[in-house]
Amino acid sequence: MSILKTENLSYVYNQGTPFETAAIKNINIDIEKGELVGIIGHTGSGKSTLVQHFNGLLKPTEGKIFVDGVDIWQSKETAKNVKFKVGLCFQYPEYQLFEETVYKDIAFGPKNMKLEESEIDERVKKAADFVGLKPSHLEKSPFDLSGGEKRRVAIAGVMAMEPKILILDEPTAGLDPKGRDVILSLIKDYQKQTDSTVLIVSHSMEDVAKLATKVLVMNKAENTMYGEVGQVYSHADELRNMGLNIPQITQIFSALRKKGIKVSDEVFTIEQAVKELLKYKGGLAQ
Ligand SMILES: Nc1ncnc2c1ncn2[C@@H]1O[C@H](COP(=O)(O)OP(=O)(O)O)[C@@H](O)[C@H]1O
Ligand SMILES: [Mg+2]
Repeated sequence: MSILKTENLSYVYNQGTPFETAAIKNINIDIEKGELVGIIGHTGSGKSTLVQHFNGLLKPTEGKIFVDGVDIWQSKETAKNVKFKVGLCFQYPEYQLFEETVYKDIAFGPKNMKLEESEIDERVKKAADFVGLKPSHLEKSPFDLSGGEKRRVAIAGVMAMEPKILILDEPTAGLDPKGRDVILSLIKDYQKQTDSTVLIVSHSMEDVAKLATKVLVMNKAENTMYGEVGQVYSHADELRNMGLNIPQITQIFSALRKKGIKVSDEVFTIEQAVKELLKYKGGLAQ
């Protein structure tokens, strides 16, 4: 079932001025409920502009967006409600924490939804626990937390709204490899547990391979590919021409195959590589 669809979606910044930029052009996508979609593309390819359309933050210059079959700009009511159905976590969301406690920051979204106090409380605690924050964190000022913790507070704030579609714009940007893996695995767990649809913008093809079911590729304001990870990543030369690098481990496996070693061409993460090599070794032993 389609949950997010666009029709000829285009957006121009500063239209009619010398600074006019066509940031996205004629985007037609159709995302099924329950997918975990990685959106990849070079810097400036239009990823952030695209996702800011999905929760009604930007209004299209042309075209339409349908969430759950409803044209989000069909009325004032639908345009207002879309931000509760589609939760968007910006890049570097910690810069938008502003309340005096972590609790209040996570509660901000649910409060705007005008939920009952007890429901808000339940959601805040659940979301905080989910992202690995301790109850003692809740009464602290967000400014007293580490960078990784602040990031998790911001993500919990969006999760607490329990959106049908959760979108995270570069959620691992600026984190160290360990912090990155923590965020990626909690996003994956969240999708599994809630059965919601999740979109994650990233410029790391390896990160996307770790969790996504589908990949959407943006290049110079256009959507050039959408499909299964293996299918999209097999277009290595095209991706390279767009300034995207297929994961190093995939390149190593491709070099092995060129040497006549019969290993899979669908290896995109270290974990997959380990499995594949053990399988290959097992085959040799027999
Ligand atoms: N607020 C803005 N005003 C004017 N131009 C913008 C603005 N935000 C982005 N752009 C331009 O739109 C294009 C797409 O940007 P963006 O959506 O941020 O790409 P990405 O997220 O893939 O890096 C770029 O050319 C960028 O310079
Ligand atoms: Mg961006």
